[in-house]
Amino acid sequence: MADFHSVKVADIYKETKDTVVVKFDIPEQLHQDFDFKQGQHLTLRKIIKDEDIRRSYSLCSSPLDKQWKVAIKQIPGGAFSTYANTELKTGDMLEIMEPTGHFYVEVEPETSKNYVAFAAGSGITPMLSIIKTHLLSEPNSTFKLFYLNRTVKSIIFKEEIERLKNQFFGRFQVFYFLTKEQRDIPFLNGRFDKEKLSVLTKTFIDIEDTNHCFICGPQDMIFLIRNHLMDAGLDTNKIHYELFFTGDTKASQLHIAEVLEHKAEGTEVTIIDGGKEFHFVMDDDFDTILDGALAAGADLPFACKGGVCSTCKCQVVEGSVEMKVNYALEEKEVEQNFVLSCQAVPTSDKIVVDFDV
Ligand code: FES
Repeated sequence: MADFHSVKVADIYKETKDTVVVKFDIPEQLHQDFDFKQGQHLTLRKIIKDEDIRRSYSLCSSPLDKQWKVAIKQIPGGAFSTYANTELKTGDMLEIMEPTGHFYVEVEPETSKNYVAFAAGSGITPMLSIIKTHLLSEPNSTFKLFYLNRTVKSIIFKEEIERLKNQFFGRFQVFYFLTKEQRDIPFLNGRFDKEKLSVLTKTFIDIEDTNHCFICGPQDMIFLIRNHLMDAGLDTNKIHYELFFTGDTKASQLHIAEVLEHKAEGTEVTIIDGGKEFHFVMDDDFDTILDGALAAGADLPFACKGGVCSTCKCQVVEGSVEMKVNYALEEKEVEQNFVLSCQAVPTSDKIVVDFDV
């Protein structure tokens, strides 16, 4: 069952012109269920103009703060982000799912590690939680943040970042890159590109000494940085990324077309959820298990429907599926037959998927 809880907005304030920070008043009895790791996200739900709108937003607070805060940047035409930025107020109730996501590495207080982070715009949200948590919990670790924005005024959490810089003087360095304002140091003007990344990996980032790198932003930026770091010698296991939106590339369109060619007709589907079984036959009008199940009346967890947030994750225990895209599951999860139900196209006559795992 899609587990949403009705939670009160404890506070909401403008962080920049088009971004609000929302703090939730999680009731005491839910604190354990809402325990989270730095870098995880919450899925929020609101009925807006009769439509069930769900969105995932990363927590910007640290688990050490014992607070649940997200930042919501208004996207042009975005139903939820516009509602949050223009109507939502303190005291309002929102439906919230428990924190999920695996954009984090475990904190190890005894070790001294060197972390690197790249963020663009609202991609700073999970980074803030990750940076605070590691620097507070690992007294000998360091963090370097490379943060891309349009202008100084649009930098989300600028004040808090500057405060952290003072608090962790010598252990936390920040480099702001701007695309719409020129500054005296030309290197800090403009987007990350191959040239800039070469300079960074030759001068600012000691690849051999880097334990983990976190990247959060649009798809193109993530893959550019990831590939560059891999070419520079950083192990792929040390590179962690989270997309905040996706665009269909030509390659992904071709892959989706191929997957749809393998789609089986009239698959008999069994969903295991909340210890109960739900049976239905896939309607030809729907491609994915999630859409087929929702149309048949099932109540399943989902948020982005874009293969990004992993809220809809389940395990295939019988039969086969192919995913259209997967930006959320790790290789080892795919090997264990975990799939994103919002992307899973049935390719066998019968399938059983388990949402309780
Ligand atoms: S709903 Fe987000 S990955 Fe499926």
